Amino acid sequence: MATERTLSIVKPDATRRNLTGAIVDRLEKAGLRVVAQKRIQLTRAQAEQFYGVHKARPFFDSLCKFMTSGPVVVQVLEGENAVAKNREVMGATDPSKAAPGTIRKDFAESIEANSAHGSDSAENAAVEIAFFFSGLELVG
Ligand code: CMP
Repeated sequence: MATERTLSIVKPDATRRNLTGAIVDRLEKAGLRVVAQKRIQLTRAQAEQFYGVHKARPFFDSLCKFMTSGPVVVQVLEGENAVAKNREVMGATDPSKAAPGTIRKDFAESIEANSAHGSDSAENAAVEIAFFFSGLELVG
């Protein structure tokens, strides 16, 4: 299995509760390496662009409001099978359906305020990484 990179976001519900370190700890313990990381405040335009694929969904406006409600920590994770591994450690989008011991099961407040984001494919990971980081900021 080749080394992959994926984009991870610690969402505003988690930064508000000072859970950034606890979430990164789960990711690192799963064998993922943080090769880039920054804490930023998304603008409405950035949130709308990042989640553009969900534009037609009924939760789009609320999702963008939530994602701009406080700081996020965006990260590039590297490791074997990083996209799938990150999604496994995060758990299902809906915390009530997430497996025990996953980030969302243990930390998420709701299906929207679900503490973490992870790219859903290697192709989307490349797009999402380029959205937040330049190549010079990725230090493996
Ligand atoms: P994420 O993995 O970042 O991808 C899209 C986000 O939309 C998702 O996590 C949730 O934060 C949010 N989301 C997905 N489904 C719903 C839903 N049914 N209601 C509200 N928010 C949702």
